[in-house]
Amino acid sequence: MGASLRKESYSMALAKAASKLVPKGVEFEIADLSEIPILNTDKANPLPKPVALLKKQIASADAILFSTPEYNYSVPGFLKNAIDWASLAPNNAFDDKPAAIMSSSDGPWGGSRAAYHLRQVLVSVNTHTIKLQAMVAKTPEKIKNGILVDEETKKQIKNVLEQLVDWAERINR
Ligand SMILES: Cc1cc2nc3c(=O)[nH]c(=O)nc-3n(C[C@H](O)[C@H](O)[C@H](O)COP(=O)(O)O)c2cc1C
Repeated sequence: MGASLRKESYSMALAKAASKLVPKGVEFEIADLSEIPILNTDKANPLPKPVALLKKQIASADAILFSTPEYNYSVPGFLKNAIDWASLAPNNAFDDKPAAIMSSSDGPWGGSRAAYHLRQVLVSVNTHTIKLQAMVAKTPEKIKNGILVDEETKKQIKNVLEQLVDWAERINR
């Protein structure tokens, strides 16, 4: 979950690439954050439909891969907002979930600052986030027409996915 909402989003292209790089037998579903409203806890009971759907998706997942761009050295507001909604007490959907982070930027740092901010937020919502993370820099050179074409990046993402699946098997045992 996490990719940006614009049509040509590189972080979404990476999420789609990841969906094809998962180990055999693993199902991969992309969460749609485009309809998630701005959090207002006065309007949380009942939950807005897109939020209820997102929470259901998270709850039924054995593991979560976050794909985040970097906005002003941090996680984009729409992703933080979605995490805040899904973590609302009493049913924090993230509680005890194995997770991994993939960050990206069209610049040279691969969204690393967003990745580390996201990692900090994930401590609060109690995911168990693996150390290995994919950080994809200079995305326009690696993603063409929405398709990841850079073999090194594919390898990087594949490694993260393999470790995440292995971790999820151990945590969810
Ligand atoms: C509001 C805003 C702030 C940004 N801040 C940063 C930044 O601090 N560091 C960085 O590397 N890229 C920054 N970028 C560039 C984005 O990471 C880049 O455009 C990325 O491709 C956006 O993700 P998307 O392609 O999935 O939409 C920023 C972009 C926007 C729109």
